[in-house]
Amino acid sequence: MKKNNADEYNDNNEEISGLVYSHDNFSEDFESDYGEEMRVVSTEYQDDDSNEELSIRPKTLDEYIGQEKVKENLKIFIDAARQRGETLDHVLLYGPPGLGKTTLSAIIAHEMGVGIKTTSGPAIEKQGDLIGMLSQLSEGDVFFIDEIHRLSRVIEEVLYPSMEDFIYDLIIGKGPAAQSIPIKLPKFTLVGATTRAGQLSAPLRDRFGVIERLELYTAEELAIIVKRSASILGIEIEEDGASEIASRSRGTPRIANRILRRVRDFAQVRAGGVITREVADAALNRYEIDELGLDSTDRRMLESIIKFFDGGPVGLDTLAATIGEEAVTLEDVYEPFLMQIGFLNRTPRGRCATRGAYEHLGMAYKTRDDFNRQTSFFDDDDKK
Ligand code: ADE
Repeated sequence: MKKNNADEYNDNNEEISGLVYSHDNFSEDFESDYGEEMRVVSTEYQDDDSNEELSIRPKTLDEYIGQEKVKENLKIFIDAARQRGETLDHVLLYGPPGLGKTTLSAIIAHEMGVGIKTTSGPAIEKQGDLIGMLSQLSEGDVFFIDEIHRLSRVIEEVLYPSMEDFIYDLIIGKGPAAQSIPIKLPKFTLVGATTRAGQLSAPLRDRFGVIERLELYTAEELAIIVKRSASILGIEIEEDGASEIASRSRGTPRIANRILRRVRDFAQVRAGGVITREVADAALNRYEIDELGLDSTDRRMLESIIKFFDGGPVGLDTLAATIGEEAVTLEDVYEPFLMQIGFLNRTPRGRCATRGAYEHLGMAYKTRDDFNRQTSFFDDDDKK
């Protein structure tokens, strides 16, 4: 039996339950002793992220590093709204997890000089939940809905008039005698965040005046973020140490900041407290995070495509069964980054490892034709 994280994530890439145990049909040499639930390079928010996260979160657009285009646009919209004395138009932020959508929503409220109320799509189950939250808003407030693609259609219907005319219809009674009484709300700015813009219904998407996509950060930007976080947390770090952490953080500040904290622990216990390149390298090797930020599960996935399926194509379900993961977990949690760095292709016939993946794993690159030639050579041999 091996611990896996098959049920740790639902189809929206979030933790939904405790650990499950399943039979492992995977060979010993792929085993990692580093528990998946503690995956350092997960883009998901983890409990121990919260300890120091609040203190290192940038509070203003000037403090916020990277996402230059988004920042520039937001600055213009915020300045314009402030000059006119109006509320900011509704804002939709989308992009991969861990890039700072929640942080940006708090910055928007701060820059507008208004309050913020925060919730998430799955937390709004009933119309009453939404109406309760809307009626707590003050004039101009930011109402932040994380994972907005997970709102039910019924809730969306309540949201439309609230977004457009700042009213909601209170329904009193049932059946033919039911009455709808429009209730006025204060003007507010809805900031929606999603990792899956494509899943948003068109009518909801159309109600956002500002739509911004967050991109993965460059290693240079992440190094600045790491140095900033280190300075706030009183961690001594050398330039090279910050670059080493940055280049292994998969373009994601949440991962960079988490790695910084883990490397700090290592530096404190093993290396006199200062994070140098050598210390960062030793700590990350210990956590099995390689120089591109791949962890053992990423490598296990690529290795099994190559070793068991001749590099692919292999169907997602077959691959998932082979490595003992849920298909949806592979698709949402592992594949995006592997595709981003060009190690994995999704084709209509299945997943394929690329030449880059072979080279990164130190394996000789073979095409399907090479494998077929090799097989027929052995076939011929058998016949002799
Ligand atoms: N911490 C996390 N994301 C950040 C960002 N974009 N800028 C500064 N600090 C951060």
